[in-house]
Amino acid sequence: MLKGKKIAVIGVGMVGKAIISGLLRSHTVDPRDIIGSTAHEETARKAAEELGVEVLTDNRKLIGGRDIVIISVKPKTVPKVLAEIRDLLEPEQLLISVAAAVRTRTIEEGLGKPVPVVRAMPNMPCLVRQGMTVLCAGRFADRGHLELSREVFSAVGRVAVVDDEELMDPVTALSGAGPAYAYIIIEALAEGGVKMGLPRGLATELAAQTLLGSAAMVLETGEHPALLKDMVTTPAGVTVDGIMALEEGGIRVDLIKAVMAATERARALLR
Ligand SMILES: NC(=O)c1ccc[n+]([C@@H]2O[C@H](COP(=O)([O-])OP(=O)(O)OC[C@H]3O[C@@H](n4cnc5c(N)ncnc54)[C@H](OP(=O)(O)O)[C@@H]3O)[C@@H](O)[C@H]2O)c1
Repeated sequence: MLKGKKIAVIGVGMVGKAIISGLLRSHTVDPRDIIGSTAHEETARKAAEELGVEVLTDNRKLIGGRDIVIISVKPKTVPKVLAEIRDLLEPEQLLISVAAAVRTRTIEEGLGKPVPVVRAMPNMPCLVRQGMTVLCAGRFADRGHLELSREVFSAVGRVAVVDDEELMDPVTALSGAGPAYAYIIIEALAEGGVKMGLPRGLATELAAQTLLGSAAMVLETGEHPALLKDMVTTPAGVTVDGIMALEEGGIRVDLIKAVMAATERARALLR
């Protein structure tokens, strides 16, 4: 579905760049079919050089003839961008927004016409094509628009879809913010290794690959994480002592509270 489609990315920052380079590396889109924009000439020039696609600073020049327009600017800049492009966008085009906390209804109202809108919440590992993106359709987007959006984000990792937009707040708190929690866990595990005499580089590699491999086990086997944990925990073995220390520290409740707190913050943003 994506082959031959013309794509504009408004806001070629961290996320915009990750999407463009993922699409290019997947060979589904020709570099001549992608155009981007930034706010400043200097960043436009650098992004164009880095990605090998055209990057402008005038959003209005991006819209004509595009099948998909992706908005990847900061949430507070979205209304300004919508006001700039609203008269140029047509209902035949698909608008995808990755802006955290910006509702599809807000975008639809900002456009004032029935342009299909899909809201996406990607995360940072999109940079290494191991991202997790969750999609949610607006009022005028149908299954075809969701499928097209799924193809875009499949170029940078896994994709899931939710029907209820309210779920985008816990999604933002879990997979959107989640890499930060994972980095803290990796850093802390590595610190434990260092405390027990491992060189820091090796300790960090061990911690990161252990999380990566364990995550792959959950996704590939489809097994409940508790069952996989039990498989590692041999009777009277080493692991159970580690688990006892973790439970004493309250890691489970801490992680649950992290997702709860970040969800509340996502709900309160832009309201
Ligand atoms: N970072 C994450 O992990 C993450 C995860 C999920 C969703 N998101 C969402 O993704 C969006 C982008 O985040 P980011 O981390 O990629 O931000 P970023 O790195 O700061 O990138 C923002 C980009 O927008 C450009 N820009 C600013 N005003 C513009 C305008 N009026 N017209 C065109 N381009 C404009 C900036 O250009 P200049 O550099 O020239 O100023 C920059 O290239 C945000 O809405 C965020 O909520 C981020």
